[in-house]
Amino acid sequence: MSEHDTSSEALGEPTRRDFLYLATGMAGVVGAGAVAWPFIDQMRPDASTLALASIEVDVSSLQPGMSLTAKWRGKPIFIRNRTEKEVEEAKAVKLDELKDQVARNANLPADASASDLDRSAGEGKENWIVMIGSCTHLGCVPLGQAGDFGGWFCPCHGSHYDTAGRIRKGPAPENLHVPTFSFVSDTVIKIG
Ligand code: FES
Repeated sequence: MSEHDTSSEALGEPTRRDFLYLATGMAGVVGAGAVAWPFIDQMRPDASTLALASIEVDVSSLQPGMSLTAKWRGKPIFIRNRTEKEVEEAKAVKLDELKDQVARNANLPADASASDLDRSAGEGKENWIVMIGSCTHLGCVPLGQAGDFGGWFCPCHGSHYDTAGRIRKGPAPENLHVPTFSFVSDTVIKIG
């Protein structure tokens, strides 16, 4: 090629051959995108994996007044063995004093009341309370045994929950939610 050659190849501009190469490259990218879908689809959990998405928690070491936080489906789960005093305090509250008067308990009908019994693990196990540890305002994790009602307190914007996890003061609109759970033995709780 002479030094006066001004063809596109000499000027470094894309030639027709380059263009065809680029076009083929683009098609290759689109093709890769299209074949990626079946792989992503295969990565979704199947029904049996979802069914396994429950946990069993041994609560035998929780004496009255003690609690633990488990992790279930990426969320903190508060499990508390309440003292008699905490249960009595929660029972003494009249429903019409509550900001949210429904139980928010996945084990009960949606319109179940927020009585202490319906918030707890139920008859004979009323000392136990199991809740998703996510403030119903914007999802911060509340602190236990804190706040004006001796239950849980969310420091993010100041929501106070009582000893039954019911919202009593602050911006949170709902009681802490109770997940699906059951006692599989006297000392083991299955969540999910
Ligand atoms: S997130 Fe709990 S008060 Fe706002």
